[in-house]
Amino acid sequence: MARIFTSQTIGKVGEIVTVAGWVHARRDMGKVLFYDLRDKDGLLQVVCVPSELGDENTTVANTVRPEWVVQIEGIVQVRGAKQINDKLVTGTVELLAKKIVVLNEAKTPPFEIDKDTSGVNEEVRLKYRYLDLRSERMANNIRNRDKVFQAMRRFLGDRGFTEVETAILTKGTPEGAREFIIPARQHPGKFYVLPQAPQQFKQLLMTAGIERYFQMAKCFRDEDQRGDRQPEFTQMDFEMSFVEQEDVMNIIEEMMIGVVEKLMPEKKIQQKPFPRLSYQEAMDKYQSDKPDLREDKNDPNLLAFCWVVDFPMFEKDDRGGWTFTHNPFSATKPEYHQDLIAKQNIEGIVAAQYDLALNGFEIGGGSIRNHKPDALKAVLEIIGFNEEQIADQFGHMLTAFEYGAPPHGGLALGMDRIIAILQNEPNIREVIAFPKDGNARDLMMDAPSELPASALKDAHVKLDLD
Ligand code: AMO
Repeated sequence: MARIFTSQTIGKVGEIVTVAGWVHARRDMGKVLFYDLRDKDGLLQVVCVPSELGDENTTVANTVRPEWVVQIEGIVQVRGAKQINDKLVTGTVELLAKKIVVLNEAKTPPFEIDKDTSGVNEEVRLKYRYLDLRSERMANNIRNRDKVFQAMRRFLGDRGFTEVETAILTKGTPEGAREFIIPARQHPGKFYVLPQAPQQFKQLLMTAGIERYFQMAKCFRDEDQRGDRQPEFTQMDFEMSFVEQEDVMNIIEEMMIGVVEKLMPEKKIQQKPFPRLSYQEAMDKYQSDKPDLREDKNDPNLLAFCWVVDFPMFEKDDRGGWTFTHNPFSATKPEYHQDLIAKQNIEGIVAAQYDLALNGFEIGGGSIRNHKPDALKAVLEIIGFNEEQIADQFGHMLTAFEYGAPPHGGLALGMDRIIAILQNEPNIREVIAFPKDGNARDLMMDAPSELPASALKDAHVKLDLD
């Protein structure tokens, strides 16, 4: 099929072409029938006139309904001055149909696809996600998400970063969130854990000498759902060797400004360079560690980035002991290193940690890491781990650090949150192709679901549903 995309018709006035796609809308004007044909590039007006189509094709044209998949051969012609539609890429032309082939019929969709679907019952939208994704707003969200991903990959690639895929079947570590667990069929009674972030792998890649790593990384956290949280989400995960806090923050800032200004000229970044607040200042002034600094909260194009720095390294946990505020791998600011090693002034230790906030959401966080075994061990001892627990859960990191780990630091950006804000969507589900619902279910695939007894037996799993 020598098929062209609808967007290509504007350069082919007077030519016979074949287009294919979905019938977006159908307008029957009596003597003339119009279709809006939709493909990945947008809409094209198709004009069906019996004298041009002949009897057979006219019958087909009259049968076709919205969302049917068709292939149409015709002549591209210029629209009359009054018919020009500025809103369409193809708004100056139309296709005078000569032949129509139905490639597939379609049932009437459960909701209207040619309208914004945000008001439609979400369960229905998620169950028929493939139809929801046909709607213009959703298709734009997914395409613009890709543009941001590509721009980031290009930016990082140009600066010598290597994208490395890290393992998904891995080992659990206490980094803050509850983890999803996978029974290991070949190792009865043992489990893999899905990574809540590739934190340890990226630090091990620094030890391996990669120096500049990034990954568009799937992360998994078994947490309660919220508008800005999914059990499965994507980070732009990033790590560099031989750097200080400023270096990491600067490169991320340059990337964010570059991506927004290049892809979304309509957006306005309120302040450059991004303002920086200490954690204490943010809490005192805004009662939030991710303050919304927008001067006009009603301006959909205003982006107020801000860095929050100087987080306390430790905080008290529910049992009166100490726990880390971010993850156990963060280093202290250099002037607090001695306090960490001596385990003194614990509440006063400030971490070399930084968060990036945007319009009141935490869109990223990172730190300079402890790259020497004694410093990581001191953190783990302060949070109450004994020798055995340290060896069991972090032994591989401590061992690796004995083989010449470079100083390193990094950050991870929450891509779903960033795209949602850029697309003015209130919920990250709107910018994820196949998200889970508020109860962590995939309504389209029907997951999670039960498994046959034989599969459970294979995986050495016995159910205890009380
Ligand atoms: P952190 O846990 O702060 O850091 O995560 C980084 C960013 O990921 C986003 N995020 C989420 N987005 C959607 N759904 C979720 N459930 C979710 N949880 C987190 C947030 C957050 O800022 N390994 C460290 C990073 C580092 O130190 O380099 C980490 O994962 O936008």
